[in-house]
Amino acid sequence: MNILVLNGPNLNMIGIREPEVYGTKTYEDLENYLFSLQSQYNVTLDIKQSNLEGILIDLLHYGNDRFDGVILNAGAFTHYSYALYDAIKSIQIPVVEVHLSNTDKREEFRKVSVIREACITCIMGLGFKSYEEGIKYLLKEGV
Ligand code: DQA
Repeated sequence: MNILVLNGPNLNMIGIREPEVYGTKTYEDLENYLFSLQSQYNVTLDIKQSNLEGILIDLLHYGNDRFDGVILNAGAFTHYSYALYDAIKSIQIPVVEVHLSNTDKREEFRKVSVIREACITCIMGLGFKSYEEGIKYLLKEGV
């Protein structure tokens, strides 16, 4: 299974940004952690990060006939980007919404996800393990 892992705005800053929320591990640590899962789950991962909404949309479109599924941490776009919602609805491959933190236990605005309905599930609050659970979900339910 080929999986596209898409990370949105400010995720490149983990390890530096709000360590009390996101921990002290860096984005590179996240990539290395994810790559280390490839052999364990027999998956191939392509990992991308962008701070730009349009690039994330382009990558979702690009991924449609090239990957079997997407793990998407849309960062703050989760809470207001109808364009990302439409992009997820535009493609045929399953998309799993993931978050490092538990967005339901933070500020009010984070309790809303406008992309959730377009995704096959949402996994949050487990740190890096949210992505691992997302991979497991795609393997179990995604195809
Ligand atoms: C996040 C949660 C979002 O609310 C926030 O804007 C992020 C990261 C998470 O992984 O916990 O940038 O998606």
